[in-house]
Amino acid sequence: MKRIKFFLLYLLGKPRWDTGIVPPEVVEFVEQHPPRRALDIGCGTGTNLLYLMQKGWQGNGVDFSWLAVFKARQRLRKAGFPPNVWVDDATRLTKAKGEYNYILDIGCFHQLSPAGKRAAMDSILKILALDGCWMLYGHCWNPSESMDHGLSEQDISEVSSRFRMIRRVDGQEGTRGPSVWLWLERRGL
Ligand SMILES: C[S@@+](CC[C@H](N)C(=O)[O-])C[C@H]1O[C@@H](n2cnc3c(N)ncnc32)[C@H](O)[C@@H]1O
Repeated sequence: MKRIKFFLLYLLGKPRWDTGIVPPEVVEFVEQHPPRRALDIGCGTGTNLLYLMQKGWQGNGVDFSWLAVFKARQRLRKAGFPPNVWVDDATRLTKAKGEYNYILDIGCFHQLSPAGKRAAMDSILKILALDGCWMLYGHCWNPSESMDHGLSEQDISEVSSRFRMIRRVDGQEGTRGPSVWLWLERRGL
């Protein structure tokens, strides 16, 4: 159902989030870390992936909307980069091979059901490098919405029971409501 919703949003034009602007939190991370392997989960049309590649990262992207993947590939090819973007589901990540030093998720994880979020964490734990960072952005859960949109405090505490939260920044996304950025590492380092 969600897949159809996203397909239609991409088909009908430029979805609300597809601004072409790289968030300052991503710019800050990239400026502070040497370029290595990055994975953008729910990469949409590839704005952040292109930025990472321009900064020397070996970037891969996945999205379950084939139209978003098509657009991201076109964008990367046009800029002279390999179109390493695949149709895949965040809960399985079957196309992401090897280890990633930077995993970015802007607006995908927060769309998952509680079971989907747990499956996505299992998948990320298999591919996040020992010294890697998973940077997650989502809307905060609003009790008037369903459980498969937004990050509840319960979700955040589950995430931080499985990963080490090194930073949390709460914010506000325009009129949309509260949002949150999380910086996560593997536990046991
Ligand atoms: C709000 S958009 C953000 C896109 C992109 N990260 C950006 O910042 O422009 C969320 C993206 O996640 C994708 N998505 C949602 N659920 C997904 C899932 N289960 N697996 C893979 N991609 C998913 C959607 O197709 C959409 O492209």
